[in-house]
Amino acid sequence: VEETLVLIKPDGVARSLTGEILRRIEAKGYSLVDIRLVQPDRSVLAKHYEEHEGKPFYEPLVEFMLSGPIVAIRVAGDRVIEGFRSLAGTTDPTTAAPGTIRGDFGRDWGLRVQQNLVHGSDSPESAARELSLWFK
Ligand code: GTP
Ligand code: MG
Repeated sequence: VEETLVLIKPDGVARSLTGEILRRIEAKGYSLVDIRLVQPDRSVLAKHYEEHEGKPFYEPLVEFMLSGPIVAIRVAGDRVIEGFRSLAGTTDPTTAAPGTIRGDFGRDWGLRVQQNLVHGSDSPESAARELSLWFK
């Protein structure tokens, strides 16, 4: 069975949307395999977001991800990588489709930070790399 890493970012935890997001994952039929509340250090985030280093949103994104606790979840299911990204909606919360997590609850915060609530791995390679990073 395929596995993915889902993160409930600091905005989702702070807004008490953890239960709502877990409910949507479970309602879709995916399984929660492991879950933890984490306050990551900067080195974990630097590895997690290494592909974005140097982009204009990189520093604000890392600061945002350090602003409060994150819920890390190992989720399993058939085609769960693609399926969770479909549940999450597109990256920009302002234009994400209603019915998705980002479309229903996400918002822009200034120009540099997207409070888009969740992260989901985008490929089997990313999932393996990210799961080993967040679940040592
Ligand atoms: P994740 O599931 O968080 O990885 O989102 P994604 O795969 O939809 O987007 P991507 O990996 O391209 O970017 C990672 C994160 O960087 C996004 O979730 C946003 O928080 C932020 N980000 C990406 N692109 C932009 C952008 O153009 N502007 C801003 N402000 N933030 C961005
Ligand atoms: Mg991504």
